Amino acid sequence: VNHLLGIKDLTLKDIELILETASTFKEVINRPIKKVPSLRDMTIANVFFENSTRTRLSFELAEKRLSADVINFSASGSSVKKGETLLDTVNNILAMKVDMIVMRHASPGAPHFLAKHIQANIINAGDGTHEHPTQALLDAFSMREKLGEIRGKKIAIIGDISHSRVALSNIFALQKLGAEVMVCGPSTLIPKYMKDLGVKVEHQVLRALQWCDVANVLRIQLERQQAQNFPSLREYALYYGINKTLLEKLDREIVIMHPGPINRGVEITSDVADSSHSIILQQVENGVAVRMAVLYLLAQKSKPFD
Ligand code: CP
Repeated sequence: VNHLLGIKDLTLKDIELILETASTFKEVINRPIKKVPSLRDMTIANVFFENSTRTRLSFELAEKRLSADVINFSASGSSVKKGETLLDTVNNILAMKVDMIVMRHASPGAPHFLAKHIQANIINAGDGTHEHPTQALLDAFSMREKLGEIRGKKIAIIGDISHSRVALSNIFALQKLGAEVMVCGPSTLIPKYMKDLGVKVEHQVLRALQWCDVANVLRIQLERQQAQNFPSLREYALYYGINKTLLEKLDREIVIMHPGPINRGVEITSDVADSSHSIILQQVENGVAVRMAVLYLLAQKSKPFD
């Protein structure tokens, strides 16, 4: 059985295959008839134990564009609230003849646990602070579309690195694709092991912006932090918020990305998020084609990610 649990386990060849397949699907979904019959014999369950707007809708749309049957499950309002376990929940969904599970869960490693216990394809749609592989793939696709080539480019990931699954998956993907990666934020929000991953660490945001070709801006994940956060949102906005004044100090244009959801006025101001520097909505658009590619490739019998 094939899974997409994280970027860490993918080869450069796997990533290239996904990005090339996504390019084909992007052409398909821009045609007047956006659907193809590729997965018409499959039933896919989107199983979300954590909130989502982009990932969940994007997967659902990707599945429908591929003609799969789709069911959606949210932990809130389900029998999880009566104490049903993760494994029982998923096994009950699979008993309804479901072929593939797309799962988001607050616990790092939850999809890896499932992969050991069930006979169905699993796609990790974000597991706690660990990985968010399809976000990294759509980010790489969007960077390549904008810059032509990722190899040799400098990418700064700015924000709450400690609590971000987007950061880790981006680091793995971008390094495999030949980019130089920097993380930037206050030391309280950058884990010590970052240096072991071979990324640069910077605490001054202007220096990070001066260095990079692309700034991927992340939000402060208050839902994963303890009380008494340091810095507070107000302090964070003051010292690390990306605003127009900062960008005007640079001697060239850089590309601004953000996986969403945005906290306007905290990690990024509206005059940057909505500017011509920003490709935030292109990232969302590309998410559908990238997820179509992942679903399509996982459904093939040739084990593309092994
Ligand atoms: N980027 C992202 O994962 O957004 P959602 O949490 O809305 O899915």
